[in-house]
Amino acid sequence: MTTTPAVEAHFSLSDRAAYEAAIARLREASRTYYGEGYSVVDDATYDRLRLAVLAWEAEHPEDIAPDSPADQVADGAAPAGDVPHTTRLLSLDNVFAPEELIAWGASLQRRLGHEPAGGFTVEPKMDGAAVAARYRDGRLVQIITRGDGSRGEDVSHVIGTIVGLPEQLPVPATFEARGEVLFTQEQFEAANETRIAHGGDVFANPRNGAAGTLRAKDRPYRLAMTFWAYGAVELDGVAFLPAGAGHAETLAAVAAAGVRTTADTPAGLHVVTGLAEAQERVDAIAAMRAALPFGIDGVVIKADSAGEQATAGFGSRFPYWAIAYKLPAVERQTVLEDVFWEVGRTGVLAPTAVLAAVELDGSTVTRATLLLSGSAALRG
Ligand code: IVH
Repeated sequence: MTTTPAVEAHFSLSDRAAYEAAIARLREASRTYYGEGYSVVDDATYDRLRLAVLAWEAEHPEDIAPDSPADQVADGAAPAGDVPHTTRLLSLDNVFAPEELIAWGASLQRRLGHEPAGGFTVEPKMDGAAVAARYRDGRLVQIITRGDGSRGEDVSHVIGTIVGLPEQLPVPATFEARGEVLFTQEQFEAANETRIAHGGDVFANPRNGAAGTLRAKDRPYRLAMTFWAYGAVELDGVAFLPAGAGHAETLAAVAAAGVRTTADTPAGLHVVTGLAEAQERVDAIAAMRAALPFGIDGVVIKADSAGEQATAGFGSRFPYWAIAYKLPAVERQTVLEDVFWEVGRTGVLAPTAVLAAVELDGSTVTRATLLLSGSAALRG
Protein backbone atom coordinates (compact mmCIF):
# COMPACT_ATOMS: atom_id res chain seq x y z
CA MET A 1 0.00 0.00 0.00
CA THR A 2 1.38 3.41 -0.87
CA THR A 3 0.55 6.78 0.59
CA THR A 4 0.68 10.09 -1.19
CA PRO A 5 2.86 12.68 0.49
CA ALA A 6 1.00 15.89 1.32
CA VAL A 7 3.33 17.73 -1.01
CA GLU A 8 4.30 15.47 -3.89
CA ALA A 9 6.17 18.06 -5.84
CA HIS A 10 6.81 21.72 -5.18
CA PHE A 11 5.61 23.51 -8.28
CA SER A 12 6.96 26.92 -9.11
CA LEU A 13 5.35 30.03 -10.51
CA SER A 14 6.84 31.18 -13.80
CA ASP A 15 6.00 34.88 -13.78
CA ARG A 16 4.03 37.66 -12.14
CA ALA A 17 0.79 36.62 -13.90
CA ALA A 18 1.12 33.09 -12.50
CA TYR A 19 1.83 34.61 -9.05
CA GLU A 20 -1.30 36.76 -9.22
CA ALA A 21 -3.40 33.82 -10.40
CA ALA A 22 -2.04 31.72 -7.51
CA ILE A 23 -2.88 34.47 -5.01
CA ALA A 24 -6.40 34.74 -6.42
CA ARG A 25 -6.84 30.97 -6.06
CA LEU A 26 -5.50 31.03 -2.48
CA ARG A 27 -7.91 33.83 -1.61
CA GLU A 28 -10.87 31.98 -3.10
CA ALA A 29 -9.89 28.78 -1.27
CA SER A 30 -9.55 30.61 2.06
CA ARG A 31 -12.71 32.65 1.57
CA THR A 32 -14.84 29.56 1.03
CA TYR A 33 -13.01 27.51 3.67
CA TYR A 34 -13.06 30.07 6.51
CA GLY A 35 -16.10 32.05 5.42
CA GLU A 36 -18.50 29.45 4.13
CA GLY A 37 -17.25 26.16 5.54
CA TYR A 38 -16.35 24.23 2.38
CA SER A 39 -13.16 23.65 0.42
CA VAL A 40 -12.62 24.40 -3.28
CA VAL A 41 -9.16 22.78 -3.26
CA ASP A 42 -7.92 19.82 -1.25
CA ASP A 43 -5.40 20.40 1.57
CA ALA A 44 -2.40 19.11 -0.38
CA THR A 45 -3.12 21.39 -3.34
CA TYR A 46 -3.66 24.32 -0.98
CA ASP A 47 -0.34 23.71 0.81
CA ARG A 48 1.51 23.44 -2.53
CA LEU A 49 -0.05 26.64 -3.80
CA ARG A 50 0.88 28.54 -0.63
CA LEU A 51 4.46 27.26 -0.73
CA ALA A 52 4.76 28.27 -4.40
CA VAL A 53 3.50 31.78 -3.57
CA LEU A 54 5.91 32.08 -0.62
CA ALA A 55 8.82 30.88 -2.81
CA TRP A 56 7.97 33.42 -5.52
CA GLU A 57 7.69 36.18 -2.90
CA ALA A 58 11.11 35.24 -1.46
CA GLU A 59 12.63 35.63 -4.94
CA HIS A 60 10.73 38.83 -5.84
CA PRO A 61 10.47 40.77 -2.56
CA GLU A 62 9.93 44.03 -4.47
CA ASP A 63 6.87 42.58 -6.25
CA ILE A 64 4.94 41.13 -3.29
CA ALA A 65 1.26 42.04 -3.49
CA PRO A 66 0.56 44.42 -0.55
CA ASP A 67 -2.24 42.22 0.81
CA SER A 68 -0.69 38.85 -0.05
CA PRO A 69 -2.71 36.13 1.69
CA ALA A 70 0.33 33.87 2.12
CA ASP A 71 1.62 35.61 5.24
CA GLN A 72 -1.57 36.34 7.19
CA VAL A 73 -3.38 34.32 9.85
CA ALA A 74 -6.13 32.34 8.04
CA ASP A 75 -4.79 34.01 4.87
CA GLY A 76 -6.71 37.12 5.92
CA ALA A 77 -9.95 35.42 4.90
CA ALA A 78 -11.59 34.35 8.15
CA PRO A 79 -14.61 36.36 9.33
CA ALA A 80 -12.93 38.60 11.90
CA GLY A 81 -15.71 39.05 14.45
CA ASP A 82 -15.75 41.80 17.03
CA VAL A 83 -14.33 40.24 20.20
CA PRO A 84 -10.68 41.23 20.79
CA HIS A 85 -8.43 38.30 21.68
CA THR A 86 -6.54 38.37 24.98
CA THR A 87 -3.32 37.83 23.01
CA ARG A 88 -3.18 36.97 19.29
CA LEU A 89 -4.33 33.51 18.29
CA LEU A 90 -1.68 32.43 15.84
CA SER A 91 -1.36 29.73 13.24
CA LEU A 92 1.55 27.32 12.68
CA ASP A 93 4.20 27.04 10.01
CA ASN A 94 4.41 23.63 8.31
CA VAL A 95 7.00 21.00 7.51
CA PHE A 96 6.31 17.89 5.45
CA ALA A 97 9.39 15.69 5.76
CA PRO A 98 12.12 14.68 8.28
CA GLU A 99 14.77 16.92 6.68
CA GLU A 100 12.41 19.90 6.94
CA LEU A 101 11.92 19.22 10.65
CA ILE A 102 15.71 19.20 11.06
CA ALA A 103 15.94 22.49 9.13
CA TRP A 104 13.29 23.99 11.45
CA GLY A 105 15.39 22.83 14.44
CA ALA A 106 18.44 24.56 12.95
CA SER A 107 16.51 27.82 12.49
CA LEU A 108 15.25 27.60 16.09
CA GLN A 109 18.85 27.05 17.26
CA ARG A 110 19.95 30.17 15.30
CA ARG A 111 17.25 32.23 16.99
CA LEU A 112 18.16 30.92 20.45
CA GLY A 113 21.89 31.30 19.87
CA HIS A 114 22.40 27.80 21.28
CA GLU A 115 21.05 24.28 20.93
CA PRO A 116 17.50 24.05 22.37
CA ALA A 117 18.00 22.70 25.88
CA GLY A 118 14.45 22.61 27.29
CA GLY A 119 13.19 19.67 25.23
CA PHE A 120 10.24 19.44 22.84
CA THR A 121 6.62 18.38 23.13
CA VAL A 122 4.89 16.29 20.46
CA GLU A 123 1.08 16.19 20.19
CA PRO A 124 -1.59 15.62 17.52
CA LYS A 125 -2.71 18.47 15.28
CA MET A 126 -6.46 18.18 15.48
CA ASP A 127 -8.35 18.97 12.30
CA GLY A 128 -11.13 21.18 13.60
CA ALA A 129 -11.81 24.83 14.37
CA ALA A 130 -9.69 26.93 16.75
CA VAL A 131 -11.45 28.61 19.67
CA ALA A 132 -10.61 30.48 22.86
CA ALA A 133 -12.79 29.45 25.83
CA ARG A 134 -12.92 31.90 28.73
CA TYR A 135 -13.50 30.67 32.27
CA ARG A 136 -14.19 33.09 35.09
CA ASP A 137 -14.33 31.70 38.64
CA GLY A 138 -14.77 28.22 37.20
CA ARG A 139 -17.69 29.12 34.91
CA LEU A 140 -17.44 28.96 31.10
CA VAL A 141 -18.56 32.46 30.14
CA GLN A 142 -17.51 32.92 26.50
CA ILE A 143 -16.28 31.02 23.46
CA ILE A 144 -14.63 32.96 20.63
CA THR A 145 -13.49 31.76 17.19
CA ARG A 146 -9.98 32.51 15.95
CA GLY A 147 -11.21 35.01 13.34
CA ASP A 148 -8.27 37.00 11.97
CA GLY A 149 -6.15 36.13 15.01
CA SER A 150 -6.72 39.52 16.67
CA ARG A 151 -10.52 39.49 16.87
CA GLY A 152 -12.93 36.56 16.76
CA GLU A 153 -16.65 35.89 16.70
CA ASP A 154 -18.57 35.20 19.88
CA VAL A 155 -19.96 31.67 19.52
CA SER A 156 -21.04 31.23 23.14
CA HIS A 157 -24.29 29.66 21.89
CA VAL A 158 -22.40 26.32 21.76
CA ILE A 159 -21.66 26.41 25.53
CA GLY A 160 -23.08 23.22 27.01
CA THR A 161 -22.70 21.18 23.80
CA ILE A 162 -18.94 20.58 23.85
CA VAL A 163 -17.47 17.51 25.52
CA GLY A 164 -14.22 18.48 27.27
CA LEU A 165 -15.31 22.10 27.89
CA PRO A 166 -17.55 21.84 30.97
CA GLU A 167 -19.85 24.74 31.76
CA GLN A 168 -18.77 24.53 35.39
CA LEU A 169 -15.31 23.48 36.60
CA PRO A 170 -14.73 21.82 39.98
CA VAL A 171 -12.32 24.69 40.84
CA PRO A 172 -12.99 28.49 40.71
CA ALA A 173 -10.29 29.05 38.08
CA THR A 174 -10.09 32.11 35.79
CA PHE A 175 -8.20 31.55 32.52
CA GLU A 176 -8.59 31.17 28.78
CA ALA A 177 -8.19 27.68 27.28
CA ARG A 178 -7.16 27.63 23.62
CA GLY A 179 -7.73 24.62 21.47
CA GLU A 180 -9.62 22.90 18.75
CA VAL A 181 -13.33 22.07 18.57
CA LEU A 182 -14.28 19.17 16.33
CA PHE A 183 -16.67 16.32 15.76
CA THR A 184 -15.32 12.90 16.69
CA GLN A 185 -16.26 10.27 14.11
CA GLU A 186 -19.11 9.09 16.36
CA GLN A 187 -20.37 12.65 16.95
CA PHE A 188 -20.12 13.34 13.21
CA GLU A 189 -22.37 10.40 12.39
CA ALA A 190 -24.88 11.42 15.10
CA ALA A 191 -24.80 15.03 13.82
CA ASN A 192 -25.58 13.94 10.27
CA GLU A 193 -28.45 11.77 11.47
CA THR A 194 -29.88 14.75 13.36
CA ARG A 195 -29.50 16.94 10.29
CA ILE A 196 -31.22 14.41 8.05
CA ALA A 197 -34.05 14.09 10.60
CA HIS A 198 -34.47 17.87 10.33
CA GLY A 199 -34.54 17.72 6.53
CA GLY A 200 -31.04 19.23 6.23
CA ASP A 201 -27.95 18.27 4.22
CA VAL A 202 -25.22 16.10 5.72
CA PHE A 203 -21.90 17.82 6.47
CA ALA A 204 -19.18 17.40 3.82
CA ASN A 205 -16.64 16.42 6.51
CA PRO A 206 -16.14 16.84 10.28
CA ARG A 207 -13.98 19.97 9.92
CA ASN A 208 -16.49 21.86 7.79
CA GLY A 209 -19.24 20.61 10.10
CA ALA A 210 -17.50 22.02 13.19
CA ALA A 211 -16.85 25.43 11.58
CA GLY A 212 -20.47 25.58 10.36
CA THR A 213 -21.87 24.52 13.73
CA LEU A 214 -19.92 27.24 15.54
CA ARG A 215 -21.31 29.84 13.16
CA ALA A 216 -24.93 28.61 13.06
CA LYS A 217 -26.75 30.48 15.81
CA ASP A 218 -30.35 29.71 14.91
CA ARG A 219 -30.57 25.95 14.32
CA PRO A 220 -33.59 24.22 15.91
CA TYR A 221 -31.27 21.44 17.16
CA ARG A 222 -27.91 21.24 18.99
CA LEU A 223 -25.01 19.02 17.94
CA ALA A 224 -22.41 17.62 20.36
CA MET A 225 -18.75 18.34 19.56
CA THR A 226 -15.48 17.80 21.46
CA PHE A 227 -12.72 20.20 22.56
CA TRP A 228 -9.06 19.59 23.26
CA ALA A 229 -6.88 22.42 24.57
CA TYR A 230 -3.41 22.93 23.09
CA GLY A 231 -2.65 26.06 25.08
CA ALA A 232 -3.86 28.55 27.71
CA VAL A 233 -3.36 32.18 28.64
CA GLU A 234 -4.17 34.11 31.78
CA LEU A 235 -7.32 36.24 31.82
CA ASP A 236 -8.13 39.53 33.63
CA GLY A 237 -4.63 39.49 35.18
CA VAL A 238 -5.62 36.56 37.43
CA ALA A 239 -2.76 34.13 38.19
CA PHE A 240 -3.45 30.68 36.79
CA LEU A 241 -0.29 29.13 35.35
CA PRO A 242 2.65 28.10 37.54
CA ALA A 243 5.48 30.67 37.23
CA GLY A 244 7.58 30.00 34.12
CA ALA A 245 5.30 27.16 33.00
CA GLY A 246 6.41 25.48 29.79
CA HIS A 247 3.98 23.90 27.34
CA ALA A 248 3.54 20.51 29.08
CA GLU A 249 3.09 22.23 32.45
CA THR A 250 0.54 24.67 30.97
CA LEU A 251 -1.56 21.81 29.63
CA ALA A 252 -1.24 20.01 32.97
CA ALA A 253 -2.69 23.11 34.70
CA VAL A 254 -5.60 23.19 32.20
CA ALA A 255 -6.26 19.48 32.76
CA ALA A 256 -6.12 19.92 36.55
CA ALA A 257 -8.81 22.61 36.22
CA GLY A 258 -11.07 20.07 34.46
CA VAL A 259 -10.68 20.89 30.74
CA ARG A 260 -9.56 18.28 28.20
CA THR A 261 -6.19 18.74 26.56
CA THR A 262 -4.23 17.08 23.75
CA ALA A 263 -2.62 14.96 26.47
CA ASP A 264 -6.03 13.28 26.94
CA THR A 265 -6.22 12.12 23.32
CA PRO A 266 -5.13 8.56 22.47
CA ALA A 267 -2.19 10.15 20.60
CA GLY A 268 -1.13 11.92 23.80
CA LEU A 269 1.37 14.67 24.61
CA HIS A 270 4.99 13.50 24.69
CA VAL A 271 7.98 15.31 26.12
CA VAL A 272 11.21 14.45 24.28
CA THR A 273 14.76 15.74 24.53
CA GLY A 274 15.60 16.17 20.84
CA LEU A 275 14.18 16.24 17.33
CA ALA A 276 15.29 12.68 16.46
CA GLU A 277 13.02 11.45 19.24
CA ALA A 278 10.33 13.93 18.15
CA GLN A 279 10.44 12.40 14.65
CA GLU A 280 9.89 8.94 16.19
CA ARG A 281 6.81 10.28 17.98
CA VAL A 282 5.57 11.91 14.77
CA ASP A 283 5.86 8.55 13.01
CA ALA A 284 4.10 6.77 15.88
CA ILE A 285 1.19 9.25 15.88
CA ALA A 286 0.99 9.05 12.06
CA ALA A 287 0.78 5.25 12.34
CA MET A 288 -2.18 5.43 14.72
CA ARG A 289 -4.01 8.09 12.66
CA ALA A 290 -6.56 5.77 11.03
CA ALA A 291 -7.47 4.29 14.43
CA LEU A 292 -8.00 7.66 16.15
CA PRO A 293 -11.64 8.52 16.86
CA PHE A 294 -11.20 11.99 15.27
CA GLY A 295 -9.36 13.56 12.34
CA ILE A 296 -5.82 14.87 12.59
CA ASP A 297 -3.96 16.63 9.79
CA GLY A 298 -0.54 16.59 11.37
CA VAL A 299 1.57 16.47 14.50
CA VAL A 300 2.72 19.60 16.37
CA ILE A 301 6.22 19.90 17.80
CA LYS A 302 6.85 22.72 20.29
CA ALA A 303 9.86 23.92 22.26
CA ASP A 304 8.65 23.09 25.78
CA SER A 305 10.54 25.73 27.76
CA ALA A 306 8.79 29.08 28.37
CA GLY A 307 12.18 30.83 28.33
CA GLU A 308 13.15 29.36 24.96
CA GLN A 309 9.71 30.17 23.56
CA ALA A 310 10.13 33.81 24.63
CA THR A 311 13.60 34.02 23.09
CA ALA A 312 12.51 32.41 19.80
CA GLY A 313 9.46 34.70 19.57
CA PHE A 314 6.75 35.09 16.93
CA GLY A 315 6.41 36.03 13.27
CA SER A 316 3.30 37.70 11.86
CA ARG A 317 1.49 34.36 11.41
CA PHE A 318 3.12 31.82 13.67
CA PRO A 319 5.47 31.25 16.58
CA TYR A 320 9.07 30.35 15.73
CA TRP A 321 9.12 27.85 18.62
CA ALA A 322 6.43 25.52 17.21
CA ILE A 323 5.96 23.69 13.93
CA ALA A 324 3.22 21.55 12.36
CA TYR A 325 4.47 18.37 10.75
CA LYS A 326 1.72 17.90 8.15
CA LEU A 327 0.56 14.38 7.34
CA PRO A 328 -0.59 13.29 3.87
CA ALA A 329 -3.98 14.75 3.01
CA VAL A 330 -6.99 12.48 3.38
CA GLU A 331 -9.11 14.76 1.22
CA ARG A 332 -8.19 14.76 -2.46
CA GLN A 333 -9.77 15.99 -5.65
CA THR A 334 -10.23 13.69 -8.61
CA VAL A 335 -12.25 13.39 -11.80
CA LEU A 336 -15.78 11.97 -11.90
CA GLU A 337 -15.68 9.59 -14.87
CA ASP A 338 -19.12 7.99 -14.73
CA VAL A 339 -22.10 7.34 -12.48
CA PHE A 340 -24.16 4.15 -12.52
CA TRP A 341 -26.88 2.63 -10.36
CA GLU A 342 -26.08 -0.35 -8.18
CA VAL A 343 -27.91 -2.36 -5.53
CA GLY A 344 -26.10 -1.57 -2.28
CA ARG A 345 -25.35 -3.87 0.66
CA THR A 346 -28.67 -3.03 2.26
CA GLY A 347 -30.58 -3.86 -0.93
CA VAL A 348 -31.22 -0.19 -1.72
CA LEU A 349 -30.58 1.09 -5.25
CA ALA A 350 -27.78 3.68 -4.94
CA PRO A 351 -25.84 5.71 -7.51
CA THR A 352 -22.14 4.79 -7.71
CA ALA A 353 -19.50 7.25 -8.89
CA VAL A 354 -16.59 5.99 -10.99
CA LEU A 355 -13.57 8.11 -10.10
CA ALA A 356 -10.13 8.52 -11.65
CA ALA A 357 -7.96 6.57 -9.16
CA VAL A 358 -6.81 8.77 -6.28
CA GLU A 359 -4.73 7.96 -3.17
CA LEU A 360 -6.64 8.68 0.02
CA ASP A 361 -5.26 7.97 3.49
CA GLY A 362 -3.15 5.11 2.14
CA SER A 363 -5.81 3.56 -0.11
CA THR A 364 -6.51 3.93 -3.82
CA VAL A 365 -10.07 5.13 -4.26
CA THR A 366 -11.81 4.42 -7.58
CA ARG A 367 -15.50 4.25 -6.59
CA ALA A 368 -17.79 6.22 -4.30
CA THR A 369 -21.25 5.07 -3.27
CA LEU A 370 -23.33 8.22 -3.31
CA LEU A 371 -25.94 8.57 -0.60
CA LEU A 372 -29.01 10.39 -1.75
CA SER A 373 -28.81 12.66 1.29
CA GLY A 374 -25.62 14.11 -0.20
CA SER A 375 -22.69 12.33 1.50
CA ALA A 376 -20.50 9.72 -0.13
CA ALA A 377 -19.03 6.43 1.08
CA LEU A 378 -15.61 5.89 -0.50
CA ARG A 379 -14.45 2.53 -1.79
CA GLY A 380 -11.13 1.25 -3.05
S1 IVH B 1 -0.49 25.36 18.60
C1 IVH B 1 0.87 29.58 19.20
N1 IVH B 1 -1.26 22.85 18.76
O1 IVH B 1 -3.70 24.15 13.83
C2 IVH B 1 0.52 28.15 18.94
N2 IVH B 1 -2.33 24.23 17.14
O2 IVH B 1 -2.63 25.08 11.28
C3 IVH B 1 -0.55 27.99 17.95
N3 IVH B 1 -4.10 23.06 15.89
O3 IVH B 1 -4.16 27.58 14.42
C4 IVH B 1 -1.22 26.73 17.79
N4 IVH B 1 -3.93 21.11 16.89
O4 IVH B 1 -5.98 25.91 15.32
C5 IVH B 1 -1.43 24.03 18.13
N5 IVH B 1 -1.85 20.62 19.06
C6 IVH B 1 -2.02 21.80 18.43
C7 IVH B 1 -3.00 21.95 17.42
C8 IVH B 1 -3.11 23.19 16.79
C9 IVH B 1 -4.59 21.81 15.98
C10 IVH B 1 -4.59 24.07 14.92
C11 IVH B 1 -4.67 25.48 15.49
C12 IVH B 1 -3.73 26.27 14.63
C13 IVH B 1 -3.72 25.48 13.36
C14 IVH B 1 -2.53 25.78 12.48
